[in-house]
Amino acid sequence: MADINIGVAKEKVEAKGFLDLEVDPQLDLFNEIEKMKKEKNAIVLAHYYQEADIQDVADYIGDSLGLAQKAEKTDADIIVFAGVHFMAETAKILNPHKKVLLPDLKAGCSLADSAPPAAFKKFKEQHPDHLVISYINCTADIKALSDIICTSSNAKQIVESLPPDQKIIFAPDKNLGSYLVKKTGRDMVLWDGACMVHEIFSLEKIMKLKVRHPEAKIIAHPECEEHVLKVADYIGSTTGLLKFSQEDPAKEFIVVTETGILHQMQKSSPDKTFIPAPPDNGCACNDCPHMKLNTLEKLYLCMKYELPEIKMDETLRQAARKPIDRMLEISARYGL
Ligand code: 13P
Ligand code: SF4
Repeated sequence: MADINIGVAKEKVEAKGFLDLEVDPQLDLFNEIEKMKKEKNAIVLAHYYQEADIQDVADYIGDSLGLAQKAEKTDADIIVFAGVHFMAETAKILNPHKKVLLPDLKAGCSLADSAPPAAFKKFKEQHPDHLVISYINCTADIKALSDIICTSSNAKQIVESLPPDQKIIFAPDKNLGSYLVKKTGRDMVLWDGACMVHEIFSLEKIMKLKVRHPEAKIIAHPECEEHVLKVADYIGSTTGLLKFSQEDPAKEFIVVTETGILHQMQKSSPDKTFIPAPPDNGCACNDCPHMKLNTLEKLYLCMKYELPEIKMDETLRQAARKPIDRMLEISARYGL
């Protein structure tokens, strides 16, 4: 493939959200990406739900909190975010002077989409004496309307950091919200949003797996529905699930979250068996269609042309930064 000029590359990104270019199948993309990291002083941050090749080429793989913390601390000039849009946007909010790249701008999130800013603003106005805690899986507009951001690994501590009589709106994930209501005993007002991936796990199929693997531990992400969480032996963020799988003596695990995480579980515990929980459709495992929009080819092209880039309005960025800073401060206080 002949190289294209930057003007044509920008047009391609505008048209499709990514660089729709053929990549020479003879190229060793792992090598090329490593070379570009050094030449450009770039860091590749990847979420556990990315495809295995992307995880293998990443400098850091983590959950949403770990990725935000890493993005805040990095001294790289370019942050290449292998994840979804709200994650790359969070990195940009924390690093206004760095170039933040996302291999496919259309890698969105059904949970973030379930909170449209205008409707959420009205909802907030109906509860004027409430503070807003928003899960990091939301747009910058929702972050700007929030008091504190949380992730699944610090949500309990964030809720408990507020005075017991403080009224709280929790958005946008109703499943994580009701899990937290139970965990903390706080009666929060919940926004009615959910993740399309975690909402479709089949309890019936999980229980059938449990019959066939009676010794297996069921481990689940708190974005799952309540009836699924009820049967879980452990509930946690992706990093929490990975750590549990490493530390628990069980030899088999039924993993109720997006399947990308199985790559690290299998790598760090090759002697254990990880069974992906099936969704309520014909599939045997559950992939996030947004996360899986990124490919190694798109990652390579994005580093080569330094496109697509996350751009943000500065006023919005500053407003969205405050609740993220509060989250990072509280997390540091709890040693998270
Ligand atoms: P964590 O990795 O923070 O647990 O979040 C899961 C998720 O759904 C990210 O989109
Ligand atoms: Fe969003 Fe769910 Fe995909 Fe995570 S798994 S990016 S919450 S749609």
